[in-house]
Amino acid sequence: MAEDTVKAGDVMKRVGVEVIRARGVDVEKLIKMLVANAAAEFASTYYYYTILRMNLAGHEDYKEICEDARLEDRAHWELIVPRIYELGGHLPNDLKEFHDQAGCRAAKLPDPPTAVNILTLLLESERCAIRSWSAVCDMTFGKDPRTYDLSARILNEEIEHEAWFIELLAHERDGKSIPSGHFRRGEPGEAPYSKNRGFYNP
Ligand SMILES: [Fe+2]
Ligand SMILES: [Fe+2]
Repeated sequence: MAEDTVKAGDVMKRVGVEVIRARGVDVEKLIKMLVANAAAEFASTYYYYTILRMNLAGHEDYKEICEDARLEDRAHWELIVPRIYELGGHLPNDLKEFHDQAGCRAAKLPDPPTAVNILTLLLESERCAIRSWSAVCDMTFGKDPRTYDLSARILNEEIEHEAWFIELLAHERDGKSIPSGHFRRGEPGEAPYSKNRGFYNP
C-alpha cells in the first residue's frame, strides 16, 4: 500500500508517485517518455516551426495557422514540464543532450523551402506528436489520471493541428478541398485545451 511506503515527513518519496506505481505504471519509463515528448514540443517543433513559419512568407493565411500550431506546442512544453518533476524526473541540464532525446525528428527547413514541402513537414510532425501523446495516454489510462489528463489535453490540440495541415497541404499541393473545421482561435496561441491560463502563461 502506498501509505506504508512513504513515512511521515519523508521528502525523498512521493505518495503521488507510489499510488500510480502500485497501479502498475512503470514510472521510470513514463518519465523518459515525457522528457522525449517535452523535447519534441520544445526542440523538434516550437523551435523549428518558428523558422518554418517565417519561410511561408507570401502565404499569410498559412502563416497564421502555423503560428497557432507553433504557440500551442510551446504551451504543451509548459504544461508537461512540471509533471516530469512531480514524478521525480528532471530535464537534462544540457540543451543539446535534451534535443537529442526528442521523440520526433527535428522539423528542419526543407530544401527547397516551398510551401508544399513546409506543409508536408508540418503535417508529419503533427502526426509524430499524435503517436507520442497517444502512447502516453495508453500507458496512463485508468492508472495515472493526472498525466492522462494533461496528455489528453495536448492530444486534443495535436489532432486539430493534423487536420489543419491536411487542409492546407491538400489545397496547396492538390487543389483539393479537405476542410479541417478550423475556427479562428481567440488570439494566436490561445491553446484552448492545454494552457493553464492565468497561471503560467499570462
Ligand atoms: Fe504539441
Ligand atoms: Fe502540434
